[in-house]
Amino acid sequence: MADLPAREALATEICGIPLDGPVLNGSGTFDVLAARQVFGDVLIDEFPFDCYVSKTITMNPRPGNPPYRLWETPSGMINSIGLPGPGLDGFVNRDLRLLASLEVPLIVSVMADCIEDFVVLVERVAAEDAVDGIELNVSCPNVHSGLIVGEQPAETEALLKALRPLTAKPLIVKLTPNVANPHEVAMGAEAGGADAVSMINTVKAAAIDPQTSRPWLGAGAGGLSGPAVRPIALAQVRAVSAAIEIPIIGMGGITDAESALEFILAGARVIAVGTENFRDPKAGTAVTEGLPAALARRGFGSLAEAQAVTLA
Ligand code: SIN
Repeated sequence: MADLPAREALATEICGIPLDGPVLNGSGTFDVLAARQVFGDVLIDEFPFDCYVSKTITMNPRPGNPPYRLWETPSGMINSIGLPGPGLDGFVNRDLRLLASLEVPLIVSVMADCIEDFVVLVERVAAEDAVDGIELNVSCPNVHSGLIVGEQPAETEALLKALRPLTAKPLIVKLTPNVANPHEVAMGAEAGGADAVSMINTVKAAAIDPQTSRPWLGAGAGGLSGPAVRPIALAQVRAVSAAIEIPIIGMGGITDAESALEFILAGARVIAVGTENFRDPKAGTAVTEGLPAALARRGFGSLAEAQAVTLA
């Protein structure tokens, strides 16, 4: 076993944004406002992530999908939340002020029904000094219009070509796993000028109510996440990393440092913790604390050494 790398050996970057370590949160899986209400400042002061990704912002306020919205599965969870939120004005005028006080870089996730609305969202969000990067959610399985763009390489490329001239800030495309060849969509994103892709979003899924024999989720179906999807995510990260040059933010069922490192070895530059945050809001911290030993066990002296590995 190699010597235990120091905390500084986890330092990295994504799209030129310097990071103390490689641990982000998956969009929508860690609500800073709610965390402050429930836990006070503890979780904010000892923030579990090296970079914060906001929940997805839409043009107008959204109530989200009808209940029920969650279903627990073996090793996972199906959600059908439907992107509830305050809309662009509510986010910029209220939520962003709190997020701006975080001591880590901020990526804001946005989703729209059409290119014109994406343009408004990106222009407005990118103009905010507190925002370091923008994630384009073209892959939410719970809002039909969101999925169409991210299913088609040409649509994804066209979207990026429309948005790229609007800002020099990093544009990150959140890919769906619900296509036969995600690497083709990733190539479309790269050709359009994306700076990175993040993957995977949730896997289309449904559950049947044992009492009524009807679909459990109010919207009929949702998206599966958690350890159940990890092997799918790893396979897709490998395939996409072989097809593109821009970096990957890898996620899908990461629960600890070992599973985080698997994503790095599959080709991700950095990783995001998602569903595990609902079980343990300090899961990001646990991943960071476990990474030096996980790296050393595999003979790496730093995160950069693991990032440099290209699996055949
Ligand atoms: C949701 O709010 O429905 C989940 C977000 C997503 O899957 O992109």
